[in-house]
Amino acid sequence: MRNKGVLALLALLASVILAACGAQTPAAAPTASPAAAGEAPTVAAEAPTAAAAETPAAAETPAAAAETPAAGTLSVGIVLPTKDEPRWIQDETRFKEALGAAGYQVEILFSQSDPAKEKANVESLLTKGIKVLIICPHDGAAAAASADAARAAGVKVVSYDRLILGTDAVDYYVTFDSLAVGAQQAQYLVDKATGTGNPLYLYAGAASDNNAFLFFQGAWKVLQPKIADGTFVIANSSEAEALKDKADLTRDEQAKIIGQVSTNWDFNTAKTLAESNLTAAGADAKGDVFILAPNDGTARAIADTFATDKDVTSFLITGQDAEKASVQYIIDGKQSMTVFKDVRTLVNDAITASVALLEGKTPDASGSYNNGKIDVPAVQSPVISVDKDNLQKELIDSGYYQASDFTGL
Ligand code: BGC
Repeated sequence: MRNKGVLALLALLASVILAACGAQTPAAAPTASPAAAGEAPTVAAEAPTAAAAETPAAAETPAAAAETPAAGTLSVGIVLPTKDEPRWIQDETRFKEALGAAGYQVEILFSQSDPAKEKANVESLLTKGIKVLIICPHDGAAAAASADAARAAGVKVVSYDRLILGTDAVDYYVTFDSLAVGAQQAQYLVDKATGTGNPLYLYAGAASDNNAFLFFQGAWKVLQPKIADGTFVIANSSEAEALKDKADLTRDEQAKIIGQVSTNWDFNTAKTLAESNLTAAGADAKGDVFILAPNDGTARAIADTFATDKDVTSFLITGQDAEKASVQYIIDGKQSMTVFKDVRTLVNDAITASVALLEGKTPDASGSYNNGKIDVPAVQSPVISVDKDNLQKELIDSGYYQASDFTGL
């Protein structure tokens, strides 16, 4: 299903809207008991049987559904977190390529990291009569109100990349394997470390983003044994230092560390934090250092800061998203690696799920994520660790980027 062409899916989407637009959304009847507050949302191996599996019989389709939507009717609304990060411009571009090619009506709005603007965006799309909302929340908990509003309006909700927390009004979740993102970042650092006492600087994403926890959890699993055995010495987090002998951290323990090393997914915050970490660091935390940076934008900000410290002899730094600017940084030796998340796959998954939901079916799921309220059926895509050695193969030969986008390849 996931590899079928987008055009075929869109043709199907156009035809099923007629049948779906008058149908009532079946009430969700979560089968799983919600996780206790403060507990990490869990990833289950099996897809739950969702109540939404009930397909309304064709004969029951209300008469109103036979009316053809007026030309230009907006059927899909997409809300993305911010234009300030190239990652989300990538998603916008890939959505436009996939949907625009079929002349399909879609509106993409950006929330500019503001939950109030996000809510207003959703309300505006609901007013325009969308049937499916694809949303990547800025703040996973705050976005529950928007999901509830969509559910009340009979609109299906697809949580995109980031999970909406604490509501049963999420129909589906498309995501990458976020634990693997963190694990690949950490593995890169572990593979390059020799001896003992290597300074390790930890940085994380925004605490309002469930993914930040998953990335950190994936990284900690790989790093912790190497901190415990002395290969690494944590340079910038007393909370992480206090927990260094614990292989599995609770959500609250992760939150304590993230609270100390959060970049808030913001370049300036990342830069300021790196500067203050370097100011506070003693000579034994300089020299050849290792840096866990959660994504490309923050990696570039942190790398630029470490590059200016004369007592830092060399540094290895991770990233995520394969943003063009970071691919160039990797070519130039200024960032060590990134984790490539093929946004084309995520976009395809979101469209495929939207089609199924409009048909009244349960989209194919490879598992589920507990959002604190229900197990949300999900599809999860693999990620690829990329450094200068496989950059050409994974990013250029694969057709994701053009060689001409970069210099010095
Ligand atoms: C996404 C990353 C992105 C980060 C900052 C995360 O939720 O999964 O790809 O770099 O947010 O926007």
